[in-house]
Amino acid sequence: MILLALACVEPVDTAGPGEADTAPPADTGDSAAPLLPQPAPAEDLDPDESVVHVALEASPLSFEVNGRTVEGFAYNGQVPGPLIRAQVGDTVVVDFTNHLDAPTTVHWHGLAVPAAMDGVTWLQDPIQPGLGFRFEFTVTEAGTFWYHPHLDSDHQVDLGLYGVLLVEDPAEPAVEQDLVVVWDAWGEDPEADTHTAPDPSSVVWTANGVVEPRLELAAGERVRLRMLNVANLSYLDLAWPGLRQIAGDQGRLDALAAPENVLLAPGDRAEFELLPTASLTVETALHTASGGAVPGAALPLLQVVLPAEQPAPEAADWPFAGGAVAPDPGTTDAIYVFSGGGGDDWLINGEVYPDVTVQTLALGRSSVVEVRNLSSTEHPFHLHGHAFEVLSQNGEAPAAREVEDTVNVGIRESVRLLVHADNPGDWMAHCHLLPHAEGGMMAVLRVE
Ligand code: C2O
Ligand code: CU
Repeated sequence: MILLALACVEPVDTAGPGEADTAPPADTGDSAAPLLPQPAPAEDLDPDESVVHVALEASPLSFEVNGRTVEGFAYNGQVPGPLIRAQVGDTVVVDFTNHLDAPTTVHWHGLAVPAAMDGVTWLQDPIQPGLGFRFEFTVTEAGTFWYHPHLDSDHQVDLGLYGVLLVEDPAEPAVEQDLVVVWDAWGEDPEADTHTAPDPSSVVWTANGVVEPRLELAAGERVRLRMLNVANLSYLDLAWPGLRQIAGDQGRLDALAAPENVLLAPGDRAEFELLPTASLTVETALHTASGGAVPGAALPLLQVVLPAEQPAPEAADWPFAGGAVAPDPGTTDAIYVFSGGGGDDWLINGEVYPDVTVQTLALGRSSVVEVRNLSSTEHPFHLHGHAFEVLSQNGEAPAAREVEDTVNVGIRESVRLLVHADNPGDWMAHCHLLPHAEGGMMAVLRVE
């Protein structure tokens, strides 16, 4: 994408039907910043309570970004795409049509769908212009997931093809505001040398298409913020006063976490409970794939505005499961060594996708996958079809149980991941820096 300053992507709708209670309050006009919009919800075409049936179309869309026109792409004419909401146990049916002039696919990031529904070109012919495909799967875990193309993804995702699929758990308490925040970075330029990560102080972040919006809260309101990083290459390192994390990539944590900051690599999600006593600013510290934290002032991303200082609203009663970090069995079933960075190739085990050696995990077994990063940049490792538990990072177990589908692996670092291999098929295992994935940094893990 061309370098864009102070972006404002327009086609996001605010409150859709049934969303009135989660819409931000009306603009009071006391600030120039636009309000944080919510992506318009997908229309459910099936009256059956346990079926969510959605029509999804990918088409070209021109939209304005800071006075410049982007010839982009969109699902159902909006960026982010329609918000798909389902309950645990629902069947999701998506009738997809490709109105782009390029082939595409749709991948359901973080969801354990059947392999034939995973939207990857290893298993499925790309969906050609004018053609469609029916995706159908059952959602079994609550959490904040997303969908995006898995073909030419460094361009197609970058140009606007991404949307959120929420899976709700009726055991979770309702709060006054349950909001998604889709973070995208502009000015990353996939055409540039992909071996250099973008300067984190020069990219412009949008939240649901808007630069540094404000979220206005009424007194006493509790907020659930579901954040996703859909950027190609740019990392967020989020912090604000009173940060309370309730969920990660794969839904609820095992206990409330109150870290000082949360790294959100491309592909990652995290959910937060906001119980503010005063207005606050969500900020990101500067972090780059080329070397982690970099010095420089934090960037403001989102203003949370309260009418007045207040006592903290009461915390909701999240049903945390209280699980512990699994012990490392000490055996290793698959190893991925990330390298490259010279020439145009990014390598896993010295190979460039699709010319890869398939590694196999036994169906029904808990297996260990180890990822080692020998390259000169960080890589967020993402596995399809399965969640994993982080056993250790550089030999050190995490402080609390971490169930993820995307984990950042720093330079010269290694991670050991426990995979309950219960979903048969061929699954992509790749870097979620999309120019790296498209440059070959993708492997295939077979479960059989
Ligand atoms: Cu979000 Cu294989 O991708
Ligand atoms: Cu990478």
